[in-house]
Amino acid sequence: MAKDPVRVLVTGAAGQIGYALVPMVARGVMLGPDQPVILHLLDIPPAAEALNGVKMELVDAAFPLLKGVVATTDVVEACTGVNVAVMVGGFPRKEGMERKDVMSKNVSIYKSQASALEKHAAANVKVLVVANPANTNALILKEFAPSIPEKNITCLTRLDHNRALGQISERLNVQVSDVKNVIIWGNHSSTQYPDVNHATVKTPSGEKPVRALIADDAWLQGEFITTVQQRGAAIIKARKLSSALSAASSACDHIRDWVLGTPEGTWVSMGVYSDGSYNVPAGLIYSFPVTCRNGEWTIVQGLSVDEFSRKKLDLTAEELTEEKALAYSCLQD
Ligand code: NAD
Ligand code: LMR
Repeated sequence: MAKDPVRVLVTGAAGQIGYALVPMVARGVMLGPDQPVILHLLDIPPAAEALNGVKMELVDAAFPLLKGVVATTDVVEACTGVNVAVMVGGFPRKEGMERKDVMSKNVSIYKSQASALEKHAAANVKVLVVANPANTNALILKEFAPSIPEKNITCLTRLDHNRALGQISERLNVQVSDVKNVIIWGNHSSTQYPDVNHATVKTPSGEKPVRALIADDAWLQGEFITTVQQRGAAIIKARKLSSALSAASSACDHIRDWVLGTPEGTWVSMGVYSDGSYNVPAGLIYSFPVTCRNGEWTIVQGLSVDEFSRKKLDLTAEELTEEKALAYSCLQD
């Protein structure tokens, strides 16, 4: 029997990530090849015409899984009944801007959209915040939507996770699909800590630790980390626009694994509400290694954290604590 359609909200749908993301959702990349979807597309009035153009293209593409498109500038109409909400709408970072510069523009958007989601989305809506500052926007959304379970509000660090997999695969000249269990700790910013201490690579003679295959500690603790941390800025420099296809693809990975589960023996990175695991302050949205089963994520426990890593986990937590304070001060202005 055919499944009932899932309603997927994409905010900022007329923007560049939106344009890359909506065909992926309509093709089943996010929720599976047998899951019909109804797309809810939200943007702001100046982008209404472009949004309508996106809707026209979705119709023209005749996606078999796409059972309807709601394209609107009305936040209530956009949020009504949605099961999955991918929050991309916001003001993106331009070349030369620090992420904090975009804070005040974005937190007020997330405060007001929190209320609309809380009142009008499906009770168990799963929320993924992509727009920067992603962790702090998600935190604001959580705080202003208290009836949405806190486990349902997450932010995107899967792009950073995938970037780390990509760097290891290039360095070792192996398939990216053979590399797993890197971790992104903390903020989706240049203080994030990409950690390979528990990562492995599938080889013809079994699974090997990345640390055993790459003896160059200086690279692993230096250039590898900074390359992943700075990748967003490098893309902006090269494209004069921030990453879009990789962000859209990673957003699909995030929701797919959350809903359909992570493969046995594999974890992924998600920005989730901290419960104090790994001595990360509770009350931040912080990226942890997680596994997913039955639509729920669980932080992987018991991984060793050496002294080098500890400092990095704390540094990015400090930045998030500062961002949280700054966000609240912006909301008071
Ligand atoms: P974009 O400017 O192309 O698109 C953003 C869209 O959001 C625009 O169409 C704009 O009109 C719309 N918008 C603005 N305010 C809105 C509101 N209140 N409600 C609904 N829509 C609104 O930007 P983009 O390149 O698509 O990037 C979107 C966001 O994603 C940015 O904040 C960017 O920094 C962030 N980003 C995050 C990651 C990540 O890994 N977390 C990666 C890449 C980009
Ligand atoms: C990215 O990681 O590509 C985006 O978050 C863009 C940015 O502002 O760094």
